[in-house]
Amino acid sequence: MNLKDYLKERKKLIDEAVVKYLPPAPKFGSRLYEAVKYSLVAGGKRLRPILCMAGCEAVGGDFKEAIVPACAIEMIHTYSLIHDDLPAMDNDTLRRGHPTTWVKFDEATAILAGDALLNRAFEVLMEWDFDCERKVRVAKEIASASGMLGMVLGQQCDLDAEGRSDVSEEELLFIHRHKTGRLITASVVAGGITGGGSEEEIEALRKYGDFLGLAFQITDDILDVVGDQEKLGKNVGSDLEKEKVTFVTLFGVEGARKKAEEAVNTAVEALRSFDDEKVRPLVEIARFVIEREY
Ligand code: IPE
Ligand code: IPE
Ligand code: MG
Ligand code: MG
Ligand code: MG
Repeated sequence: MNLKDYLKERKKLIDEAVVKYLPPAPKFGSRLYEAVKYSLVAGGKRLRPILCMAGCEAVGGDFKEAIVPACAIEMIHTYSLIHDDLPAMDNDTLRRGHPTTWVKFDEATAILAGDALLNRAFEVLMEWDFDCERKVRVAKEIASASGMLGMVLGQQCDLDAEGRSDVSEEELLFIHRHKTGRLITASVVAGGITGGGSEEEIEALRKYGDFLGLAFQITDDILDVVGDQEKLGKNVGSDLEKEKVTFVTLFGVEGARKKAEEAVNTAVEALRSFDDEKVRPLVEIARFVIEREY
């Protein structure tokens, strides 16, 4: 398996599928539709939907079965980016290689575009023609991960920590596990549920996702300092400017790299009991997460 080709192929699949799950453009207020579409087709790695499909495969399922939850998760992720970039939050101007949604349109439209994507995600899940019990479980998993004890809480904590010099490693771990880790975990777990995984398998995927999500956000912190804006497609130096507390401010670039490596090792370790071939993509994605340049 060549990871580069695998990621490219799966990304293409999601790029094509995700827009198909948008409703038709309305007669009035099409500015909202344009903003949603702009944000969704702008690009991005599609890592969460890819993880969802790989989670499904890891438990022996057909990855195609997981396309609906995968697209719903990408909609939620895209909404979170639109809101994250707003002046009231990170105040960023570049995302996925294009002006951020609020810059391209306006703040109000960006807020509404985020709201629209969040709701559309759950509408798409509810319309999913799939085993009802698994569907409800997947929807609950995604809602909890995104909501007020999940990603949204993490975003609040991230903002509350800005400019503070007393943030401990424990608090920063909480922030990263919530703002980023929870949705990444839900992606893999939703795939596992879709594929009919056993409770033990689901719990192992949950542990993998938790540590992968942490490694992902630590690497995001590092890339904000040492990354190339062209390759990343988003503003670098943004954390420093906002006086964010990150793994780099606490441990330095090398210290943060070490922490990310440790987290990835724990993530991969959690997959020990799975069939090697079936979890190969998840293992390779874990390495990619800390070695990536974008
Ligand atoms: C960016 O996520 C936001 C974080 C949680 C760090 P990604 O790096 O996955 O962004 P895209 O989807 O590839 O643009
Ligand atoms: C964003 O974290 C997390 C969410 C969007 C939920 P960051 O603020 O670090 O993400 P980037 O660096 O802007 O992509
Ligand atoms: Mg942020
Ligand atoms: Mg940000
Ligand atoms: Mg960041």
